[in-house]
Amino acid sequence: MQTEPLFPLPEVRVLIGDSRELLANLPAESIQCCVTSPPYWGLRDYEHPAQIGAEPSPEQYVANLVEVFRGVWRALRKDGTLWLNIGDGYARNGGTGNHGPNAVVGNTRKLIQRRNCKVPNCWGLKDRDLMGLPWRVAFALQADGWILRSKITWVKRAAMPESVKNRPTNATEEIFLFAKSPKYYYDSSAVRESTGANLRNFWMLGPEGNGKGHPAAFPRELARRCILLGSRVGDTVLDPFAGSGTTGEVAQKLGRPAILIELNPQYSQIIERRISHVIREERRSCAEIGRPARQRFSGRLARYRRRATVAAQPAPLQ
Ligand SMILES: C[S@@+](CC[C@H](N)C(=O)[O-])C[C@H]1O[C@@H](n2cnc3c(N)ncnc32)[C@H](O)[C@@H]1O
Repeated sequence: MQTEPLFPLPEVRVLIGDSRELLANLPAESIQCCVTSPPYWGLRDYEHPAQIGAEPSPEQYVANLVEVFRGVWRALRKDGTLWLNIGDGYARNGGTGNHGPNAVVGNTRKLIQRRNCKVPNCWGLKDRDLMGLPWRVAFALQADGWILRSKITWVKRAAMPESVKNRPTNATEEIFLFAKSPKYYYDSSAVRESTGANLRNFWMLGPEGNGKGHPAAFPRELARRCILLGSRVGDTVLDPFAGSGTTGEVAQKLGRPAILIELNPQYSQIIERRISHVIREERRSCAEIGRPARQRFSGRLARYRRRATVAAQPAPLQ
């Protein structure tokens, strides 16, 4: 198994726009592995009318995610997998200020449902009910044809502080492994427990200082495990909710080309910075081992930059 970066580095393509539209431009059955984390419902404001997570009801949120992953299904190879990290939330009435459902989160500028936060009128939800959104999404995807193969619990070493006194602090999130067909690519030798045993569905990860400038980046190690387990060197990896581009950065380091889709053009700069950093690091290590790499990598960097802006217009991919 090869896990070292290849020379030249594989390409990361960044498409700016709504995943529900842009996924249709990807060639069918061209992606081996999708690693992604959609926005929470009703929490952060990514400041775009087409953002997922700001729907008036969580039922619409689930329906929108089903639509996105239908697009992923089409683009995924028959033996491909979807690794879906998704967070939960509480149904609440009202609440403003620095705590509770309407608090400012991370560095997002606005609050969703400011001052008019209401318990959604569905699923029998009551004030302060945990909505169970990860499982509702998982069941909806199952009903849409996906095979649910695993539920991995990501235990956060540094959980977001909560001021609650009537329940334990949330410190976990789900990562679901879905397959398109019963026989799918999964390299169980790529990531093992330290004892050598098969990897367990319990990952203690973070914190990491990655994705600076994005409020909800997941740890590189999360992406690394999913990519190694779900793809080979050279296979294409997809993230339809790219954010700061963690999936792309890790895929590139692992020798996999990546396609990233992100709605908010501001984040493309963060992605570009991260990918440029990978390229610079690789160039440095090339120079250290005496390869004439400088020219090759400056060309790649320039091409990457051109693509990141050109890709703002949806165009069929070759
Ligand atoms: C939880 S963040 C992803 C963070 C990412 N895993 C990282 O490590 O940086 C979700 C992202 O989805 C984007 N998003 C929301 N709605 C979208 C849509 N309809 N199409 C594409 N991206 C969308 C948001 O702008 C946000 O950056």
